[in-house]
Amino acid sequence: MVPLNDWKIKLNLSLLEDIVTSLESGQVLFFPNLAFPIFPEEKVLFSPTLVKKNRKNISYNSKVDQLKACEGNSQTKAIIQSMMKRFSDHADQLLLHLFPGYELHLDKGLTSFRTVEAKDKPKTSLTKNDSLLHLDSFHSSPTGGRRILRFFTNVNPFNKPRVWKVGESYQSVLKRFLPTLNKPLPGSRLFMNRFGITKSYRSLYDHFMLGIHNKMKADDRYQREVDQETIEFPPNSCWMCFTDQVSHAALSGQYAFEQSYFLSLEGLIFPEKSPLHYMESILKKRVRN
Ligand code: SIN
Ligand code: FE
Repeated sequence: MVPLNDWKIKLNLSLLEDIVTSLESGQVLFFPNLAFPIFPEEKVLFSPTLVKKNRKNISYNSKVDQLKACEGNSQTKAIIQSMMKRFSDHADQLLLHLFPGYELHLDKGLTSFRTVEAKDKPKTSLTKNDSLLHLDSFHSSPTGGRRILRFFTNVNPFNKPRVWKVGESYQSVLKRFLPTLNKPLPGSRLFMNRFGITKSYRSLYDHFMLGIHNKMKADDRYQREVDQETIEFPPNSCWMCFTDQVSHAALSGQYAFEQSYFLSLEGLIFPEKSPLHYMESILKKRVRN
C-alpha cells in the first residue's frame, strides 16, 4: 500500500526503498488514495462503443502522439487523446519519482483505455482470456527477459471496482509448469522470426514464458485450486506490478487506463529476483537467447 494522495508529493528515501523492494519481489503496489483527475467533458464520453469493433482497447502511442482503435468524430477523438496523453504523462512522472534508477533502462510501451466490461469480454480463445490466472507473455512480441511493468488506474464513474485475482508466486508457478514444457523445435524460432510471426527472435526465456502462460490458462483444476486472492481496486485508485512475474486475472471492471513499460534487466535493483534469473537458476543455463 503506497500512501500517496497527490501526484506531486515526494516520498522519503526509506519508503522509496521499501517500494522498489516490494515491486521487484513480485508484489502489487496499491495506491488507494491516488486519483487520476478526469474532467466533466471527458466523463460524458465514457462508453463501451468508443472502442472499434473487434479491438480490446483504445490505444495511444505517446512516442508518436497517436490514437488507435477509437470510434467517434474528430472532437471526441481529440478529447480522448488528450486525456490519454495526460494519463501517460502522470504515469511517467510517478514512475520516475518512485524508481529513479529505472530511468535510463525504460522503454515506454502503449497506453490503453479499457472501456469494455472485463467480465463481458468475448472469450474467443483460451489464451486470450485474461480472466484466467496468467503471467503476461506475448506470442508475437518476445521480451528477451526485459520486464513488463504496468501501471493502472480505475476511472469508473459508476463506483464499480476493477476486480483482479492474484495467484501463487512466480517461483511456485515456475516450479510447477517449467518441467512440463518441451524445448522449441529446432529451427522453429528462426522460421517465426524470418516470416514475421514474431517481431524479433523468440528467446528460450520467451518460449518457456509463453508455454507457462498457455498451460496456466488451459489447466481448469489449477485455476480453481491454486492459492489465490481477490483484490478490488476501487475507482480513484491506482496500482502497478510486473505482470510477467505476478500471476493475475482480470475478473470484472470497466473504464481503466493502463500504461506499459519495458525495463531492461540492467535497470533492476534486485536482478536476482527477476523471472529470467529464477528460470536460469532452475534450468542451470542461459535462456536469454
Ligand atoms: C491483464 O493484464 O491480464 C488484464 C488486466 C486488466 O485489464 O485489468
Ligand atoms: Fe495480463
